[in-house]
Amino acid sequence: MNTQRTIFQPARETLIVRIRPMLVRDVLAVMVTENSSFEFPWTEGDFVSHIDDRDSVSYVAESSAAGGAGCAVGYMVYHVAPRRIELLNLAVHPQWRRRGVGTQLLATLAGQVVRHPGPGLGQRQSARAYVRESNLPAQLFLRSQGWRCDKILRGYYDDSSEDAYRMVLRPWRQEDAPRRHREHGGGGEYV
Ligand SMILES: CC(C)(COP(=O)(O)OP(=O)(O)OC[C@H]1O[C@@H](n2cnc3c(N)ncnc32)[C@H](O)[C@@H]1OP(=O)(O)O)[C@@H](O)C(=O)NCCC(=O)NCCS
Repeated sequence: MNTQRTIFQPARETLIVRIRPMLVRDVLAVMVTENSSFEFPWTEGDFVSHIDDRDSVSYVAESSAAGGAGCAVGYMVYHVAPRRIELLNLAVHPQWRRRGVGTQLLATLAGQVVRHPGPGLGQRQSARAYVRESNLPAQLFLRSQGWRCDKILRGYYDDSSEDAYRMVLRPWRQEDAPRRHREHGGGGEYV
């Protein structure tokens, strides 16, 4: 019997959350998580403008276990473009990470990505996200949810010289396995 997992990695219980649209009154709680999650955080105004934008979708994940009914433990913002969904922001409060909250948020987005989009609101064929090369936890998280890196964008950010990993989700495409990077003279496996 392999006892290593029970000794060194005690299982964390999934925190079941309710996912609902973000409201302006959520933004203060969201900012606490935002400021503790990113070196270059969004402002309150960034969140409010996405709540107001009819092409953007903003959700919070709330749990009464986090103190007080309706307390937001995580959130996600994405933009719905004609052909794809672009994930713009997603974070979970540090206290509630590795409890499946990010997974539940992304499942909401993944449910909107379909092979043959019909008239359904928001349905698109793929989703994309741009992740900093230094943000290994986010890369591993997205990989665990079936996202794959299909391109590295050199010097993508204005605020640093970091590259971005473009991560893509096509849940209907079984052959979407890790691929070899050939752009910019690259040749190594990177996902
Ligand atoms: C990335 C983030 C959203 C993940 O949220 P989360 O609620 O902790 O994620 P989950 O509990 O659903 O994790 C699902 C799986 O992703 C992987 N994963 C998540 N965080 C990880 C980490 N820090 N290191 C390695 N793997 C990780 C694991 O496989 C995990 O499954 P496991 O816990 O059973 O091993 C969270 O760490 C966060 O808010 N980070 C700061 C903000 C950020 O970088 N956002 C970009 C998101 S694309």
